[in-house]
Amino acid sequence: MDCRPAPAVRILGVGSYVPDEVITNADLEKIVDTSDEWIVQRTGIRERRRAAPDQATSDLAVRAAREAMDDAGASPDDIDQVIVGTVTPDYPFPATACRLQHLLGLRPMLAYDLSAACSGFLYACAAARQAILAGTARKVLVVGAETLTRVSDYTDRSTCVLFGDGAGAAVMGAVDPATDGDGRPVGILDIACGCDGAGGDLLIQPGGGSRHPASPASLEAHRHFIHMEGRAVFMAAIPRIVSLTRESMARAGVTLEDIDLFIPHQMNQRIIESAAARLKLPADKIFVNIDRYGNTSSATIPIAIAEAVRSGRLRRGMTAVTVAFGGGLTWAVMLLRW
Ligand code: ACO
Repeated sequence: MDCRPAPAVRILGVGSYVPDEVITNADLEKIVDTSDEWIVQRTGIRERRRAAPDQATSDLAVRAAREAMDDAGASPDDIDQVIVGTVTPDYPFPATACRLQHLLGLRPMLAYDLSAACSGFLYACAAARQAILAGTARKVLVVGAETLTRVSDYTDRSTCVLFGDGAGAAVMGAVDPATDGDGRPVGILDIACGCDGAGGDLLIQPGGGSRHPASPASLEAHRHFIHMEGRAVFMAAIPRIVSLTRESMARAGVTLEDIDLFIPHQMNQRIIESAAARLKLPADKIFVNIDRYGNTSSATIPIAIAEAVRSGRLRRGMTAVTVAFGGGLTWAVMLLRW
């Protein structure tokens, strides 16, 4: 009997892209009744990016995806499946993933969008891992890409200061053997996703779907923009991030000392710091770039991973945990040995 463990699934390469235009807090002071001081103190955000008028979500995604494929040494022929986590697709349909498949020159294949708000990238990683372990794909291109400035209400100071545009991508594939030279498991050690739809109204773009189709009245009521009960989301996020991280470490048999880098969804610096303090994670193990990009929903985690790899903060052999929480309400955690 063959007793070898199943091959591990690993992120083979990463990439990211943010548009050129920078929106500073000073720029927002001219649009809504806010201040740089309020935004920095309450959120940690100093600036965010905005896509050019001719850029849609797929145009950001394709830049991140090409970089991830280069980083992984993967040619278009190597990719078997495309999953795009997004809540700001180019169109309600067809899927942004279909356009991405075309833009990248990939052969016809399974390509779909996955709507899980800020948890979208990790949900997509979970789906990709299952496809790889099931043997239905060898390499999967996983993307988190958003143009949230297109659905931000620039008359609502409580939401518009938070969001930005960007994309991150990863190529996932199997590695065999599933252990490193020291016999330690490599790749994704644990991944888990969940949701509680009872909190769906806390963070929602209510218009444009079948419940409130686009109409002059829905536009007048600003239903096509993000609506959020910020404080309720804030209060729900912290304990969930803490419990997800602890549960994942327990399942993977990893201790706090083993964690080299904590890569949380970049939603609010105070949420990140509060969760990290409860987890007793020191500041030098926390990856933060919210000051430069704001909250880019499904894109924050792959952008952060790509930046952590590029800057040398995440290197092969290191153990990292990444955790997301957002609209749905959805949540997800992925623990990996890079
Ligand atoms: N500038 C100045 N004042 C502001 C601003 C602003 N931009 N926004 C709100 N305020 C005011 C409010 O009007 C309120 O004033 P009041 O006391 O006179 O009524 C005061 O500041 C406090 O408002 P709160 O909402 O209680 O402020 P809080 O400390 O909760 O911070 C924030 C608000 C930043 C939105 C916070 O609640 C938060 O980050 N929540 C989580 C949001 C999040 O990350 N969601 C994920 C969404 S991503 C996704 O899934 C697509």
